[in-house]
Amino acid sequence: MTSISESYDRLHPRSAQLYQQALQLFPSGVTHDIRFLPPFPLYVERASGCRKWDVDGNEIIDYVMGHGALLLGHSHPALVKAVTEQIARGTHYGACHELELAWGGWVQQLIPSAERVRFTSSGTEATLMAIRLARAYTGRDRILKFDFHFHGWHDNVVGARYADSDLRRASGVPAAALGSQVTVPQNDIGLVEHTLAEDPEIAAVIVEPTGASWGTLPLAPGFLAQLREMTQRFGVLLIFDEVVTGFRVSPGGAQKLYNVIPDLTCLAKILAGGLPGGAVAGRRDILSLIEFRADMEWNFSRRVVHPGTFNANPLSAAAGTAVLPLIADGEAQAHADAMAERLVQGMNDVLEKRGIPGCVYGLSSMFHIVLGKESPRPRRGIEWPWQAANGAPPPRTELSVSLALRRGCLNNGLDLMGLGGGLVSAVHQPADIDASIEGFDRTLVQMQEEGIL
Ligand SMILES: Cc1ncc(COP(=O)(O)O)c(C=O)c1O
Repeated sequence: MTSISESYDRLHPRSAQLYQQALQLFPSGVTHDIRFLPPFPLYVERASGCRKWDVDGNEIIDYVMGHGALLLGHSHPALVKAVTEQIARGTHYGACHELELAWGGWVQQLIPSAERVRFTSSGTEATLMAIRLARAYTGRDRILKFDFHFHGWHDNVVGARYADSDLRRASGVPAAALGSQVTVPQNDIGLVEHTLAEDPEIAAVIVEPTGASWGTLPLAPGFLAQLREMTQRFGVLLIFDEVVTGFRVSPGGAQKLYNVIPDLTCLAKILAGGLPGGAVAGRRDILSLIEFRADMEWNFSRRVVHPGTFNANPLSAAAGTAVLPLIADGEAQAHADAMAERLVQGMNDVLEKRGIPGCVYGLSSMFHIVLGKESPRPRRGIEWPWQAANGAPPPRTELSVSLALRRGCLNNGLDLMGLGGGLVSAVHQPADIDASIEGFDRTLVQMQEEGIL
């Protein structure tokens, strides 16, 4: 019997070779934390639709989908046309341009809270700017966030509690930045109320509106509405981090889906159609702090400054302007959701058939896999009973099992994201999903044979 590791090495010799070069260049040979996959990650040569091909010629059905940026799949024809035409016209004017108006207009039209929009280069920059605006607007310093919610990697958000313990995931972050964050478990509105009442220095509450880490821990129904009411009562701003959920869970994001309108919204990923880009959108009076006013002139101390070489760059604007109209009616999302449901149910059937403890669950077109742990499976649809998650850390597969799952799935033609899960797009078709379920089944059988499960 060939083991998963042996097959992985045998199928991917060129990737192994390139990784040796990479180790001389990049820390751990990778350029993003979640691309780290021992003994080596795959090197991809090209991608199209829901598939990508690695440098060894293996065809893979993709569930990373540009870390969630590619709701319309890789290299959608409309995107290729728009970006190709734009590149010939210039990639950076160092000036205003009409495409940024069209792009911002789509954001304003689709995202309910977007009275005003400011483009950034990434989701991390979007949460950085939202937090700075909240501090400037309220004159307070601290931010309330939730355990396991991810908002990028800048100093204001990485230090928060992320593990079962109070471990602060924050090497290199100044103590002052850590001290400006208060982190509490999600779904406990009483604790939020208590914290806001006790701490008059809190400027804003920031939340992933489908729960921690793109829904790994779902939010209790009604929690967002409670947060809205509570923040208003205490004069605290509410920030939705819709970097993943924006345009995905509905064309207007989670705020449209749940009909809860935050003061500020952070966007990225789908916003820029697969190119780099982010934005803060929100209340006009809050974003007006970026405005130049006659009495301020260039006095930087009195306004929120915001340069940024690649803000609203023409290529990202072209990509975003090509993609957003195509997802505005909700059909792309409905298809992606249906494909995710087919995948999740098929994967849960495999777990059932093979007698493996664990579950696959998710929300909209996002899914998460837990293996080797007793866990309730979604009874209908794909949503996990949120009560099961209440107060607890996200259910996680043991690291060694996750890594074997990822390698095994790659051997069997599907690429999962991070430690197991992924994002489904509007171009995945039933046949792709069924092939993925079969690949998942083959992987689990191999894992059982090897005693990994
Ligand atoms: C919810 C959320 N916020 C912020 C970010 C950071 O975005 P970026 O990677 O574009 O900096 C991410 C990235 O995955 C995210 O998932």
